[in-house]
Amino acid sequence: PVEVPENPPSFAEFGELNRMIHACRHCPLWEHATAAVPGEGPETARIMIVGEQPGDREDLEGRPFAGPAGKLLDRALEEAGLDRSGIYVTNAVKHFKWTPRGKLRLHQKPDAGEIDACKPWLLAELSHIAPSVVILLGATAARSLLGPGVQVTKQRGLVAAPQLAERVILTVHPSYLLRVDELRKEVEYRQFVADLKLAQDD
Ligand code: URA
Repeated sequence: PVEVPENPPSFAEFGELNRMIHACRHCPLWEHATAAVPGEGPETARIMIVGEQPGDREDLEGRPFAGPAGKLLDRALEEAGLDRSGIYVTNAVKHFKWTPRGKLRLHQKPDAGEIDACKPWLLAELSHIAPSVVILLGATAARSLLGPGVQVTKQRGLVAAPQLAERVILTVHPSYLLRVDELRKEVEYRQFVADLKLAQDD
């Protein structure tokens, strides 16, 4: 295994950070991905959103949350009164992890070693943006920044993590909302929008 630095790398601007992310070999996921997908959004963002990892579409387009989960996130953000163009959106893991199934590339969950290998990049983004609000979408983002043992559905909402930001919101991943059974969909979606509303300026 490649040595992972303990501290986030220093860099002058995002272009430089993104070049380092593209060249990352901390774990083997780069080998089967098209390219790394770094975060996207203004450096002055008040809110930072952390997802899991790029999916099939994100891997091809090179932008986070560009596929179906991203469409759902965009809609929920709008309903929560938040404008995505002002938000910095990124992932805990920067390369798409997948396994072939016929012609499809099936998403696989990143493991703890891969999450930890990618953490310096996430911390670098976090310290550069220094957002007031961090929104963690799902278990992988929670594992990366809050540590192991967090249960998203039990601890969702505001969580105390002053080392990350003034306000930290933990909620489900939008791809969960795409999978959940029809009967629960609306209720789960409403709860997701309510969690996102906790990021509103007061
Ligand atoms: N799911 C994620 O966690 N991130 C993306 O960028 C897309 C889907």
